[in-house]
Amino acid sequence: MEKKEQLYEGKAKKVYATDDQNLVIVSYKDDATAFNGLKKGTIEGKGVINNKMSNFLMQILEKEGVKTHFVEELSERETLVKKVKILPLEVIIRNISAGSFAKHYGVQEGVVFDEPTIEFSYKNDDLGDPLLNEYHALALKLATKDEIALVKQMAFKVNEVLKEYFKKLNVTLVDFKIEFGKTAEGTIVLADEISPDTCRFWDSTTGEKLDKDRFRRDLGGVEGAYQEMMRRLMGA
Ligand code: TMP
Ligand code: ASP
Repeated sequence: MEKKEQLYEGKAKKVYATDDQNLVIVSYKDDATAFNGLKKGTIEGKGVINNKMSNFLMQILEKEGVKTHFVEELSERETLVKKVKILPLEVIIRNISAGSFAKHYGVQEGVVFDEPTIEFSYKNDDLGDPLLNEYHALALKLATKDEIALVKQMAFKVNEVLKEYFKKLNVTLVDFKIEFGKTAEGTIVLADEISPDTCRFWDSTTGEKLDKDRFRRDLGGVEGAYQEMMRRLMGA
C-alpha cells in the first residue's frame, strides 16, 4: 500500500491518501490538547500506544459484530483504515458521573448510574463542540433518523463489550467518546479512535485515573498512565 499526499491534520492524528481510493492511512501523533485546543502539550509515546490500543479494541469489537474502519496496522504509529465521511456527531456514553456531566449537573464524580447515558455533541471546533439532541442533529442534517438510531445502538453495544472487557483488567470504563463514519458504499462504521485520549479509565481498586484526565488536570504521571493501560490490555 503506497502512502500518498496528506489529506488532513487533526489535533492528534494525520490522514494520508493511498493508491486505493477507498483506503487511507491514519498516523498517530504524540500531540495532546485539551479544552478545545486551549491547552497544548506532548505525551511522549502516546501516538504508538493509542494506535495499538485503538486497533486492538476495534478488533475485539469487530468480533462482537460492531463494524469498524479498521483494516490493518502498518507500523507503530500508522494504520490502514477504510476511507469514511465522519458524521459530525460525537457520541458520548457514560456509566459513572465525571467530567462535564458532574460539572453541568452539580454532582460528584463517581456516582454509578443504573443505566448508561448517551449524549451527542456537534463536532465543530469553531463552536466548541456544543451539546445537542437528536432533533437538533436532524434539523442540522448531521445525520438521518436511521443513522442516528443505528449509531445509538452501536454505541451502547460498544459500551457493553468494552465495559466487560476492561472489568477483567481491573479497569472501570467510566465514559468515552466515539465517532462514526460512512463508507463509500454507505455503511456506517465505528471510526476515529478508542484510547486513553477518548475514554475515562479508573483503576477499579484504587480509583486511580489512567487516562487523559491526568493531562487535562495536571495530575502528573501522564505517560505512566498510558503505559499502564497498554500493559493491562496488551501485556506490553
Ligand atoms: P466530558 O466529561 O469532558 O464531556 O468527556 C466525556 C468523555 O469524552 C471523556 O471520556 C473524554 C472524552 N472526550 C473526548 O474524547 N474529546 C473531547 O474533546 C472531550 C471534551 C471529551
Ligand atoms: N481533544 C480535545 C480538545 O483539544 C479535548 C479533550 O480531549 O479534552 O479540545
